[in-house]
Amino acid sequence: MARIVTTFPLPDAALELLHPIGAVAGPEGWRDALADAEALLCLLTDRVDAELLGRAPRLRIVANAVVGYEHVDRDACRARGITVTNTPDVLTDATADLAMALILAAARGLPRAERSLRAGEFHGWGFWDYLGAELGGRTLGIFGMGRIGRAVARRAAPFGMRVIYHSRARLPAEDEAAVGAEWVDFGGLMARSDVLSLHAPLTPATRHVIDAAALRRMRPGAFLVNTARGPLVDEAALVDALRDGPLAGAGLDVYEHEPRIHPGLLELPNVVLLPHIGSATRETRTRMAVLAARNVHAVLTGQPPLTPVP
Ligand code: GLV
Repeated sequence: MARIVTTFPLPDAALELLHPIGAVAGPEGWRDALADAEALLCLLTDRVDAELLGRAPRLRIVANAVVGYEHVDRDACRARGITVTNTPDVLTDATADLAMALILAAARGLPRAERSLRAGEFHGWGFWDYLGAELGGRTLGIFGMGRIGRAVARRAAPFGMRVIYHSRARLPAEDEAAVGAEWVDFGGLMARSDVLSLHAPLTPATRHVIDAAALRRMRPGAFLVNTARGPLVDEAALVDALRDGPLAGAGLDVYEHEPRIHPGLLELPNVVLLPHIGSATRETRTRMAVLAARNVHAVLTGQPPLTPVP
């Protein structure tokens, strides 16, 4: 029987897939269990580097139960012939929903309004109180037009938003038409977006893509929303842009140095801060764990993995 190690508690649906083909160890003591592991199920908070792989001489698959895989040393895995998989598709809707929630929450200043009510400051309906920005007629800029970017574009249209995007690869014309989005260069994205929503993976090319220079090019009163990866944004520059302009607000689910939050962000009233919950619904997290287990099942039974990372 194969030895399968997990760094997090698996739902029954995943365990049912794995039990016929192997013994599951972890999360308790998972590092020690790597010594004779053939499969590892892990998360974005588990750094899978050469040191960790060195503890697992029999490893055949790293089944990453999230979509991002910047925490996995793919070169080291490739050198050892270890398959790496992730969980695309199953979290697209949940993450796009959260991006929309952040766009709305930031534009309408929901946390600020709620904090005010809880502080006893709501003394009755006020004509000019708690005013926010409307989405209708405004331009949503999407950076990174993969599955999640496209799902956000589809959600924004019914709110009356115009959608522009910039991505490493331009979509085929029929896909652009299907999501109703117009391709622009990076400068155009910065200059034209009223709301900029980030949906690119973290790579050397995207780290700090939203830096002080990019932020300076944004429209006065624009909003930044990040449900992708924190290091896409230079957080210190973001704090400056929120404090001194041009940004009116931001909605953040991810941070440059998670779980540490830049103290400047914590002080600003015009920022919505969430604890990395993009895919955090029971249904989606279950689907993510099951897809990771299906990848393990495939590799350990000699089938091709369902969702290998490139
Ligand atoms: C979550 O952040 C993921 O990469 O799935």
